[in-house]
Amino acid sequence: MISSAPARAVRVLVGTLEELNARELTLVKLAPDAEGRPREAVVLRDEAGQWRCYRNLCRHLPVPLDGGSRRFLVAGELQCGTHGARYRRSDGVCVAGPCKGTLLIALALQQDGERLYLLDAGQ
Ligand code: FES
Repeated sequence: MISSAPARAVRVLVGTLEELNARELTLVKLAPDAEGRPREAVVLRDEAGQWRCYRNLCRHLPVPLDGGSRRFLVAGELQCGTHGARYRRSDGVCVAGPCKGTLLIALALQQDGERLYLLDAGQ
């Protein structure tokens, strides 16, 4: 999703479009949360080719979506490495698994020329 900046969002460079197009997905380190826990975002194209960005955070339990494996995509969907929940790339909806119907935390994206930025509002 390409959109305007949320209030108080920090703009973080994801990469150039050339770099991003050469990869299946891109991981971006974010500032730690208020308790000092690491935060990370996943940037990838959805089924229609639109850029999407989500926190690397499952909605079943507060653990990284990839469970530390660095493997995210299974059969074209984002899959939790802990219990196997599957999330649609286009909107982050969990379509299978213990948290079915929940939503990944989406971050807005902003294209500036040949560069793509995410807008981190701290969520
Ligand atoms: S922690 Fe992700 S499905 Fe359980």
